[in-house]
Formats: sequence, structure tokens, C-alpha cells
Amino acid sequence: MNEPLPSEPIEPDDPERRQFLEKTASIVLGSVMVSVPVGAGVATLLAPLGSEKGARLKVRLASVAELPSDGTPKLYQVVAERKDAWTKYPNKPIGSVFLRRIDEGKVLAFNSSCPHAGCSVDIDSSGSAFFCPCHASSFDFDGSTQGKSVSPRGLDQLEVDPDLLENGEVWVTFVKFKAGVADKIEV
Ligand code: FES
Repeated sequence: MNEPLPSEPIEPDDPERRQFLEKTASIVLGSVMVSVPVGAGVATLLAPLGSEKGARLKVRLASVAELPSDGTPKLYQVVAERKDAWTKYPNKPIGSVFLRRIDEGKVLAFNSSCPHAGCSVDIDSSGSAFFCPCHASSFDFDGSTQGKSVSPRGLDQLEVDPDLLENGEVWVTFVKFKAGVADKIEV
């Protein structure tokens, strides 16, 4: 039986060594991301469970004053609260939105779901771009794709109500879009 030559790569067949390598890999992946502050907005659905599919939900996410004035994005979870004539159902998270205050009078909103395959986008370790950990797509803070990203389109921008924004309130129309296609198609 031939012994491997010293110059040949050695497979990590030792379980302890393999576990160490797996842990190291996950720590390296984790360090690419930084956590962002998270808030929440509640959208009330006067409809049965499951009816959020295809719905456009208008939800208050923040006041303008609580968004960083330097344009740093802040993440908000969208939570659906369902009620019908008889029952109030438990709140359920249905997605999340990045808000960016880019000057006194303007706020940008992006669905945080990656347009490639729907993973959650975060902010990269440099703090200067959005990053998707699933297949390493990067997006500028204006939502457009960077470099060799596999995402077929930029992050999906959402409507911010301009009248309520004038009163210092950020209300967003939350919509989900089809992943994996170049066009922005509501689902
Ligand atoms: S799901 Fe984001 S790059 Fe693939």
C-alpha cells in the first residue's frame, strides 16, 4: 500500500480536526457580517391567516429622528398582526426592511430579502455596503449590485409615503418580489 508523499494534501479525516476546520469556517463567514440595530413595525391585517401573500402592507416603521443622520442603514422587522371579527392571532414576522435617511427630507427603504434566492441581506464588515452571505452578492447603499454579484437585480426598493415623511414618520408599503429574475415582479 502506497503511503502519501509528504507534498500531497492530507484530507482532514480526523473528526476532531474536521470539527475544528468547520468551526473555523463558520467563524470566518460570521466575521464578514456586522449586526445592525433592529426595530420593528406592526402591520394589522383585518383578514384571515395566510392572506399576507400578495398583499401590499402599509406599515409605520420608524420616526425620521431615530434614523442615523449619516445615512447608515437601520433594519426593521415587519410583523403582521391579524384580527378578524372574533379572534386576534399571534404576531408573525413576515420580512424586514432597511431604512436609510439620506438627508433631512428623504428616506430610502429596501426589502432585506436578497433578490437572488431570498436570503437575508446584512451589512458587510466594512460598514459601507450590503452583503448577502449565501452566495456573496454585494449591493451599494443605493441598492444597486456591486462587482460580480450573482443577484440578477439590485435590492428591491419600497415606497415611502412622502406626506407622512413630511410629518417625520416613516411609513413603508411592504411588498415581496419574486427572487431569481431580473424584473421586479410582486408575489
Ligand atoms: S441568496 Fe443572496 S446571493 Fe444568493
